[in-house]
Amino acid sequence: MSTFWSWYVTLLTVGTLLALFWLVFATRKGEAHKNETEQTMGHSFDGIEEYDNPLPKWWFMLFIGTLIFAVGYLVLYPGLGNWKGVLPGYEGGWTQVAQWQREVDQADELYGPIFAKYAAMPLEEVAKDQQALKMGGRMFATYCAVCHGSDAKGSAGFPNLADSHWRWGGEPATVKATILNGRMAMMPAWAQVIGEEGVQQVAAYVRHDLAGLSLPADKSFDLQQGAQLFANNCQACHGAAGTGMAMLGAPDLTKPAGWIYGSSLVQLQQTIRHGRNGQMPAQEQYLGNDKVHLLAAYVLSLSQNTPSITEVAAK
Ligand code: HEC
Ligand code: HEC
Repeated sequence: MSTFWSWYVTLLTVGTLLALFWLVFATRKGEAHKNETEQTMGHSFDGIEEYDNPLPKWWFMLFIGTLIFAVGYLVLYPGLGNWKGVLPGYEGGWTQVAQWQREVDQADELYGPIFAKYAAMPLEEVAKDQQALKMGGRMFATYCAVCHGSDAKGSAGFPNLADSHWRWGGEPATVKATILNGRMAMMPAWAQVIGEEGVQQVAAYVRHDLAGLSLPADKSFDLQQGAQLFANNCQACHGAAGTGMAMLGAPDLTKPAGWIYGSSLVQLQQTIRHGRNGQMPAQEQYLGNDKVHLLAAYVLSLSQNTPSITEVAAK
């Protein structure tokens, strides 16, 4: 704030405060119990009249109290132009940011050593520590449940983290890397390349030959053509046998339980026609290594053989 505006605000505020002090005292009509009169203010509303009496003392003192509070506030907090206030504990004066930072610093001081202790332990061990899992679970609810669900079982477009299907790999270090650095999946769109007919055939091939799911009996499919299309266009990422490639995040197409975009023919065609770009946001900058370590351990502790939503849907 420039000096002019600083003084403008200061003078306006102090002036108003002084004027209010004056007003409160100038309009005071003595003390209530001594100076009561029968005189009215002279107006009448529906027969209701008002006595011209002084304010009760407690009420008057309330006004004084708010004025004194205002003076105290303006000394401690930044309210007068460039004046930063002298609130103890805030060197450069109180600000919301400084208060937030102070709370974060206090929390770091309190919990930092606990996080650091677990960060120094191997993930497999942390994944068996009850206190660590409790902390990890709470952080998961805060930072991850919006996308992966509070039970970590995912939903359409978001993978189940509580099963044994991994798109990017289930090794402890890999899971941690996924959370730290995020992942960006690149499944290209095929409509332009293989045409609508090709999309239909390769979708049928994926569903029937790779995933082992049934096809509608009232339609005929050229599974041979589907297989050829797959060999020409899909192998590079999903592998010759369709079992996927963790390095690219290309899922295993023989295990529909791990799919996130649905296994019906229509959903498969949609995926192949337009492609998919699932994104797992990186957490390193945001949460830091130590918290991610706990979260990775928590996620690893969940991955037992629980059926996923998509597995149920595939039946
Ligand atoms: C450039 C590598 C690449 C190629 C080539 C590729 N895919 Fe994919 N595919 C991926 C990736 C990565 C994903 C995961 C997308 C995501 O998670 O958002 C994926 C996902 C899928 C899925 C969805 C699985 C699920 O979780 O629901 C299907 C089905 C699929 N691909 C079929 C095919 C078929 C059929 C072809 C060939 C026509 C093909 N892909 C070619 C990389 C590829
Ligand atoms: C904005 C939504 C979103 C949030 C928030 C999010 N994720 Fe993810 N996550 C995804 C998506 C989408 C994928 C799948 C990416 C793909 O298509 O391959 C994913 C993938 C993953 C994977 C890899 C799964 C596999 O099969 O390899 C792990 C592990 C994971 N997330 C953990 C977490 C954790 C832990 C958190 C909390 C810190 C978190 N995620 C927060 C959207 C999210």
